[in-house]
This record gives sequence, structure tokens and C-alpha cells, in this order.
Amino acid sequence: MVRAVWGSRLGFILAAAGSAIGLGAIWKFPYVTAKHGGGAFLLLFLLIVFTLGISIMIAEMMVGQIAQKSPVGAYRHFGGRPWALAGYIGVLCGFLILSFYSVIGGWTIFYLVKSVEGGILTSDMLQLRQIFESFITHPVEPLWYHAAFMAVTASVVLAGVQKGIERISKSLLALLFLLILVLIVRSLTLPGALEGALYFLMPDFSKLNAQMLLEAMGLAFFSLSLGMGCMMTYGSYVSNETSIPRSAACVVGLTVAICILVGLMILPAVFAFGLNPAEGPGLTFIIMPAVFSHMGGGAFFSVLFFFLLFVAALTSSVSLMEVVTCFFMDEFGLPRLGVAIVMAALMFAVGIAASLSFGAWRPYTLFGRSFFDLLDYLTSNLMMPFGGIMVTLLAGWKACGEIAARLKPESGIIPRWWPAMKWFCRIIAPLLILLILIRSL
Ligand code: TRP
Repeated sequence: MVRAVWGSRLGFILAAAGSAIGLGAIWKFPYVTAKHGGGAFLLLFLLIVFTLGISIMIAEMMVGQIAQKSPVGAYRHFGGRPWALAGYIGVLCGFLILSFYSVIGGWTIFYLVKSVEGGILTSDMLQLRQIFESFITHPVEPLWYHAAFMAVTASVVLAGVQKGIERISKSLLALLFLLILVLIVRSLTLPGALEGALYFLMPDFSKLNAQMLLEAMGLAFFSLSLGMGCMMTYGSYVSNETSIPRSAACVVGLTVAICILVGLMILPAVFAFGLNPAEGPGLTFIIMPAVFSHMGGGAFFSVLFFFLLFVAALTSSVSLMEVVTCFFMDEFGLPRLGVAIVMAALMFAVGIAASLSFGAWRPYTLFGRSFFDLLDYLTSNLMMPFGGIMVTLLAGWKACGEIAARLKPESGIIPRWWPAMKWFCRIIAPLLILLILIRSL
């Protein structure tokens, strides 16, 4: 079977950015940052993104590009059999993430439908919270949307790499940027908004603690799609001539830009409407309708916003499913069609439990966490950091010769940094991740 390739370098960058930019930046980033007190947490997040994040991004993509294999194959290619275990854990991690990701993806469809119907344009916080709560705690309704989201994801993956994934990523990213800019202007000009902007941007270091370090790292891995072989898989569709480092830096830059813009869109509104910043997973869904209710053409903007949120989530969920699908195709020679359908069904089943844990199953907890929180914690705060350790070790020790040979002087500043980066990957990065993990466990 001939391996799929991206149509162009830009296509690759946009597809990878499409994977990174999703619910992580627009749904998870604002509520987690707000919960941890704003500015200081943002600073931690940025520190981690521009040290560990960017190195792991380059390492993952280059390892994938050189090996031209799914994560399992790539780990095996460079490290031999025992290393393949890290690849298996990555695939499992992708499976688990998509199981709960699709539940939230379903929420975006629900809100899209609601905004088309026009029933959510109000700034009454009680009512908005009530719409949100009664939806997510309903035993059956969210499951339909969860199923719909999973079905759309599977059908894009079925269409294959270039026709499916690349095409939808290309057109909509620019539109998302523009819309967020418009919404920031509205949000920042609401009365009382300034306090929210300051909360988001001004670090208050007295709020820092070790647990936040792990949360910030988990959030960085999640928002950049790192640590489970996703970027490795996308890298494996990059032709040999293309140079990776600058593309990787673009992807990180675009994602961080969206995160910060989203923060500026949401937190000022949260303060202006008097919502509690520690509201939790509902934050984006509850506050944005209030913003729309205060702007001309609000109905139009709300439809556009939830549509783009849905598409952003879709380009990410597709990347998760692609990892799982690519693994079964590469390792067992199974057909794309069968794999995608069976996996979608299995992930849907696991997601049912995640969805119910917002409602009927909320009382059942383990270590004080619901099933949804447990999946989230396990993947973001344990499995992805573990993957980060493994991929930096692999790049630094096993693949470093081949990576160095690939780095041509014309591909920007990173080749000149490689000798230092090599040691960063070999020792400092794995140790740093390990320390953060140990300190907060
Ligand atoms: N980064 C995506 C988001 O923010 C989610 C995602 C896609 C992901 N692929 C991943 C997270 C791989 C971790 C690993 O919505």
C-alpha cells in the first residue's frame, strides 16, 4: 500500500494546526486557566509550551517523518521491540481521549442546533446555566449528539488523509481567527470587562502551587496534541524533502495565539456578566451566548461561532481517530473502512459512561473523580507526559543521528540549535517532566 502524503507543506501545517486547535484551546484552556486563578497559570502554561512543547512537537514530527510509520512502528524502527510499548500506550491514549472528546464534541452540535433555533440569546446567567446543566445531565439526549459527532469524525477519516482531513482544515482556520477577533472586541468593551482581562493577563504568584504545574503541563500537551503519537502520525505523511522545524514552530505559534485570544474573548465576559471564573467545563458554553445577546447580529454570530467550534473540534477528533486507524492499518494490514467503523463504535460505547458521569452517574466516583474526570486526568496528566518522556528520549538517544542529518542549514535557526536541543531532549526534558509528575502525585 502506498503511504498517503499531504498535498503541500502548507496543507501539512494547517492539518497539524487543525489537530492542535480544538476543544483544548477553546473549551478546556479558558476554564482550566480561570479555575487556577488566571495570569500566573497562563505564565506557567506558556513557559511549558515554549520549552517542552515545542521540543516535543519537533521530536514527534521528525521521528514520524523519518520512520514513515504509525507511532508503534516508529518507536520500533528507532528503538527496537521494547520501545514499541510506548507506541501502544499512545494509541490507547488516543482511544481514551476520543471517547470523552466526542462527548464534548456532541455538546458543540447541541449548541449549534440551539443557536440555529435561536433559543439561547440571553444574558440571564441562571437561565444559561440551566440550559447547560439540564442538557449535560440528561441521560439520553447528549448521547445522540455524541453519536452524531463520532459518526461525522469516522466519515472524515474514511475519506482518507488528503481529501478528508486536509481539505476541511484548510479553509476554516482563517475564519476562526477572524471571528474570535470580532468577539474579543465585543467582549472587551462590555462594562466591567477590564477586570477579567487583568485576571487573565496579570500573574498573581501567590496562587502558584505544584499541582498547577502538572495541570499546566497536561493542558499544554492536550492543546498541542502531544505525547500520544498524533503528531508522529501526521509527520509520517510528510514527504522526505519537507523540512519540519519551522512547520512545527508555526503549529505551536498558531495554537498559542488562539489560546490567548480565546482567553481574551471569554474572561472579560465572565467578569462583565458576573459568572464565577471557576465555573468549570460549562464556562465557554454558558458565557458565549450572553456575549452574543449583547451584539448586533448576535443570532448570526452565535451560529457561526458554534459552527466553527464544531469544526475545530472535528479537525482534532479526526486526528485522534487517524492515529488509532493508522495503527491497525499499518500493524495488521486491515482496511481503513472496517477499522474506522469498529473503533468509532467502541469509542462511542466508552463515551457513554463519560457522558453519564455528568448526570445519572455523577455520584459514582473514584479517587474523588467522576469517570469523565478520571479519563481526562489519566490521559492528560499521566499518559501524555509519559509519552513526552518517551519521545524525547527516543529523539535524543536513538534517532538523533538521523534527525541531525535531516536538519539542513536552510531550515531556519533550529538546526544550529540542535546540539543543545539534543541534550535537552536526552536529559533535561525527560527529567523535567518526571519531576513535575513526581512532585504533584
Ligand atoms: N489538541 C486537540 C484539542 O485541543 C485534542 C487532540 C487532538 C489531542 N489530538 C490529540 C490531544 C492528541 C492529545 C493528543 O482539542
